[in-house]
Amino acid sequence: MIQPKYINHFKALETPFYFYDLELLRETLQAVKAESSKYGYHVHYALKANNDEAVVKTIANAGFGADCVSGNEVKYVNDIGIPGKMIAFAGVGKTDKEIKEALEIGIFSFNCESIPEIEAINELAGEFGKVAPVAIRINPNVDAKTHKYITTGLSDNKFGINHWDFDKVGRALKSLPNIKLTGIHFHVGSQITDISVFEKLSLKVNKIQDWFSNNGFELEHINLGGGLGIDYKNPQENMIPDFSRYFKAVHDNIILKPNQQLHFELGRSLVAQCGHLVTKVIFLKKGVEKQFLIVDAGMNDLIRPSLYQALHEISSLTSNKQEEKYDVVGPICESADVFRKDIMLPAVDRGDLIAIHSAGAYCQVMASTYNMRNLIKSFNSDELSR
Ligand code: LLP
Repeated sequence: MIQPKYINHFKALETPFYFYDLELLRETLQAVKAESSKYGYHVHYALKANNDEAVVKTIANAGFGADCVSGNEVKYVNDIGIPGKMIAFAGVGKTDKEIKEALEIGIFSFNCESIPEIEAINELAGEFGKVAPVAIRINPNVDAKTHKYITTGLSDNKFGINHWDFDKVGRALKSLPNIKLTGIHFHVGSQITDISVFEKLSLKVNKIQDWFSNNGFELEHINLGGGLGIDYKNPQENMIPDFSRYFKAVHDNIILKPNQQLHFELGRSLVAQCGHLVTKVIFLKKGVEKQFLIVDAGMNDLIRPSLYQALHEISSLTSNKQEEKYDVVGPICESADVFRKDIMLPAVDRGDLIAIHSAGAYCQVMASTYNMRNLIKSFNSDELSR
């Protein structure tokens, strides 16, 4: 999964660290491009998944747009080279400063979630003498069938505007001179592995479109958000998600108006499998029935197992001895600081290296300095090949 030529380099590096395989990333990006361009769809990269400079540059060079959720993200991707016209800016709480900066850059769309937000953008755009492009985020009440913390499209989630508020929103949109409704936006959740969720979403979108047409709004674009899941159990067999099935499921169900563009905001499916957290075994500790493998990475470096009970595959990079059963744990003073329980791994010793896989999305970006630990570095395949 990690090519042996890189493992030799790892031995000289300070652990723990993230490793990004940019070769796999480029292959993944090519696959997305090939499948989405069959239907003329536009893909934005959801920067929140991973903002490592080499990763983002690779994505920008491949011609993707960006989906940002803070002013800093908007500026960062724009500086890296993604043109304003390819940047969507989402989030329920955009500040005046962030709105102004995005207006200056001239972005593709402000994805808006409430009437006060639309009013604030209208006012600030007025000060700039501009008309801001706005897409309304709609809560379609479609169950993403994923972990409750990453479900966003149900009526009891904080995200989006519900259908019973459409009339009010419609009136606001028509009365405000410095905004233009250019599209509607959806995102029902993340790590969605049941493709029928996207079929249902597409069918819901068709109905919602009708409301907008009947009320005199012509929409230039529909944005379906992200959410396509990856295979955490068998990363080796499924390094590149099935983009063909995903885009086809949408294409077979959605009805677009003439010249209407369809946009996506994919995060995890582009970057998750290209990342690995490499960590060193510090100690082995025998419990009553357990054998704890204590590594130098902790839940502050990779919080997904503690926060979402996520199971990331783990493998040994430096031992091929007979397998033993371990609980792989970190050094943090919390019982939740566990990466995996009862996992079979080749017997390791103090100093051996192990890798936690599928760690390219929502891992390094969610790191903290809890316990006064340092934020860790990342390395990538391009720099280690030089
Ligand atoms: N668009 C919007 C509006 C979003 O909120 C998200 C992710 C995406 C696109 C990208 O979704 P993706 O294609 O990556 O599923 N920390 C969690 C995931 C949080 C997702 C937040 N929103 C995790 O580690 O699983």
